[in-house]
Amino acid sequence: LTRKDLAGKTVLVTAGPTREPIDPVRFISNPSSGKMGYALARAAEYRGGDVVLVSGPTALPDPANVKTVRVRTAGEMALAVFDHMGDADIIIKSAAVGDYRAVETAAHKIKKTADQLVLTLIKNEDILKSLGERKTHQILVGFAAETRDLKENAREKLVRKNLDMIVGNLVGHPASGFGSDTNRVTLFFRDGSCEPLAEMDKDAVAHIILDRVRERCL
Ligand code: PMT
Repeated sequence: LTRKDLAGKTVLVTAGPTREPIDPVRFISNPSSGKMGYALARAAEYRGGDVVLVSGPTALPDPANVKTVRVRTAGEMALAVFDHMGDADIIIKSAAVGDYRAVETAAHKIKKTADQLVLTLIKNEDILKSLGERKTHQILVGFAAETRDLKENAREKLVRKNLDMIVGNLVGHPASGFGSDTNRVTLFFRDGSCEPLAEMDKDAVAHIILDRVRERCL
């Protein structure tokens, strides 16, 4: 059964990790595989949406019929997202964006002569928070990857970042979060309610997220 309930809607999805360079051969990153975000992009395309996927470095192929923009750093992701936000009706930020980057990137490979190496990091722009400040008509869905206090942290981000919905993702479990084919999430809504989902494939999670956007946010 093909549902075309997102026909005429432009959906902007972010996926994957970012890489913040230290020198030409090293970077700071995280274990995001992109699977959750790519599942969302494929599901939105299947349901008739015009989909733009802004992706950090992943091993996944570009989804069919999806405009895929590949970026590396959080700064590049921010530029690509702000570039496409005006056309979007729905924005879903599943990317694991680096919170900090190195103040200085060495022009050449750092030699391992010193016993200790101190890196100074500076905060990256919070893309989701900026989207929450700038949004006009867009439905804004964030993710919250947490290792504890999921409910409190997710609710705090939902309000502080001016989101319509947030997907709370308890990470650090082999069948949920980073890298796995399955995920276990709780959806949090503006009215204070929440919906815990069972463990299921990321494709199934993606469709339920889009169902709730349709039913509760559009
Ligand atoms: O890619 P997979 O291997 O499939 O793993 C999926 C996932 C675990 C990465 C995904 O389900 C998930 O939880 N993504 C959010 C990861 C994250 O960065 O969470 P956070 O709680 O640190 O950030 C909260 C929200 O702010 C996120 O929507 C994030 O995209 C956004 N953010 C964060 C920092 C920043 N500088 N800019 C942002 O936009």
